[in-house]
Amino acid sequence: MKFFVDTADIEEIKTLADTGLLDGVTTNPSLIKQSGRDFIEVITEICSITNGDVSAEVIALDFDGMMKEAEKLAAIASNVVIKLPLTFDGLKACKKLSVDNVKTNVTLCFSAAQALLAGKAGATYISPFVGRLDDIAFDGLQLIEDIVTIYSQYPDIDTQVLVASIRNPIHLTESAKMGADVATIPPKVIHQLFKHPLTDKGLETFLADWEQTNQTILA
Ligand code: G3P
Repeated sequence: MKFFVDTADIEEIKTLADTGLLDGVTTNPSLIKQSGRDFIEVITEICSITNGDVSAEVIALDFDGMMKEAEKLAAIASNVVIKLPLTFDGLKACKKLSVDNVKTNVTLCFSAAQALLAGKAGATYISPFVGRLDDIAFDGLQLIEDIVTIYSQYPDIDTQVLVASIRNPIHLTESAKMGADVATIPPKVIHQLFKHPLTDKGLETFLADWEQTNQTILA
């Protein structure tokens, strides 16, 4: 499973990229707002930190506007992925970009039918939002299972399932069990993944015992 980080925070991206465990980055207009920085500058900087796919979202709602914005964003770097909303015009733009061999990430997906359309439109990634469905008392993980099942019936659909709006490690592990291709994870949740109380407790015991041996490894 590929791990993307869902942030426009450059320091976080650098820290996570240094682990070698990061496969890409996703951003959205809200994350750009949080960064307080210029959109084009941030995407350019992120693309200089990672060779992985970096999603940059269009703002236009109409096909022509989306295509113009996509052209500008795609020119930033070869690893830019054009993020498009799951709308009529968004999928039309997705189809055109896929024919032109430009990578796309279709976002704001909340139903299996929408995901099927994105697959037909040749999306590189489909982003179903797990947390936001849970927020309104729908089963977000069920949507992931449905999309993975549907896509697996049709070998001609190459679209990768990119689980988005992840709020906790369970969202991630359950999606992995279902065979989702990618997870885009907020930095806070990525850091949670490393942690387990028994790891901390075990380490504490090992170090206390080691101290009593009066040895050093690097003498
Ligand atoms: O980037 C899209 C998605 O991951 C947003 O998540 O937490 O704002 O629902 P969230």
